[in-house]
Amino acid sequence: MVSSSQIKIKIEKLAIGGAGIARHDGLVIFVPQAAPEDELLVEFTNKKKNFAEAKIVEILKPGPSRRTPPCPVANVCGGCNWQHITEEEQRRQKESLVLETIKKFNPTLEFEYLPLKESPRVFRYRNRIQPKYHNGKFGFFARNSHDIVEITDCPITEEVLTAKFPEARAFAEAKKSKDLLRMEMYISDQEEVRFGLITDEDDGIGFSQVNRFQNEDLLKTALEWAGDHQYEHVFDLYAGSGNFTFPLAAKYKNSGITAVELNPKLVERGRAQNKDKRLRYFLSDVESYMKRASVGKQDLVLLDPPRAGASEYIMRALAASQAKKIIYISCHPVSLARDLKWFFEWSQKLGHKYQLAKVQAFEMFPQTDHVETIAELRVD
Ligand SMILES: C[S@@+](CC[C@H](N)C(=O)[O-])C[C@H]1O[C@@H](n2cnc3c(N)ncnc32)[C@H](O)[C@@H]1O
Repeated sequence: MVSSSQIKIKIEKLAIGGAGIARHDGLVIFVPQAAPEDELLVEFTNKKKNFAEAKIVEILKPGPSRRTPPCPVANVCGGCNWQHITEEEQRRQKESLVLETIKKFNPTLEFEYLPLKESPRVFRYRNRIQPKYHNGKFGFFARNSHDIVEITDCPITEEVLTAKFPEARAFAEAKKSKDLLRMEMYISDQEEVRFGLITDEDDGIGFSQVNRFQNEDLLKTALEWAGDHQYEHVFDLYAGSGNFTFPLAAKYKNSGITAVELNPKLVERGRAQNKDKRLRYFLSDVESYMKRASVGKQDLVLLDPPRAGASEYIMRALAASQAKKIIYISCHPVSLARDLKWFFEWSQKLGHKYQLAKVQAFEMFPQTDHVETIAELRVD
């Protein structure tokens, strides 16, 4: 039976955050776990003036890309929100989401938009995960909750890690703790599986690229787009433990190299690897660093900020620097689009002629709505 708070809708497309979008009586409705072209009976869970959120009551007619998720817990686990959609459609949605978001913030910006790069693996790609343990249950948080969904496997995680689930569970069990235990499991630089607890004192290894198969291509693309110019100086901002820093140093043999990173553990790992006198690793917030940095016209800047993006101050400083080329690597299309807006507004105010030469989305996180993007900015 259809109640008065239930309506029938058809999903147009997917949104950043993963929900499906439909329109009804002037309202934009966001529906989690929807697939493009699904015809659904939904019930409102939150209704505002211009938009609403709704949950699926019944799938009246599934869209052509809807499928049964390969993972048996995909519908309840908080990990993957797009497993019910074919990989081809996931890629199509991400490619258009990145373009639409950049255009929304920057309607007049012209640029070459290259086709999304597929990930070599769509399952078994994750090399770092954060399982939990509580009351005898080992698994991940359920969607929108701190209940634990028990797992014996995780199909998006590399097999060498999932093979260690029994050991990791026994390790947590042996703690005999009544508290919820947060854990981290990862493949180390030495190709060993490591796991341990995340605590207030020890927050884990910090950032690392979770899809090493696709990271190879991202790295290759970043180096290609950076080009063959002999830059005076190369800056790697938000450098982590040097994923881009060391390949950049190897390519630009006559340039000074600077890496800037806020997490002391990552800086320590980067410094430990560094045998090159030209390379300086700064433990610093990027904004504070930019207040004293002297980036010049013959320099290359690569920045790879977290999901929150950079800041207006940083984008303004980059526009003011007239750096020959800027490679922006992003894991959130909205912060990328907003940062590009700040960058071009400031270059225009300062009379500096930059162009957004090209943009390409990378499928780094299959089965989820997350997407990586690379953008090249250069002086016209
Ligand atoms: C998306 S990761 C990129 C790391 C690295 N480029 C890589 O590929 O492994 C973003 C990095 O920025 C660092 N970070 C976050 N906020 C920062 C800030 N305000 N200043 C400097 N680094 C920051 C994080 O610790 C993390 O290592």
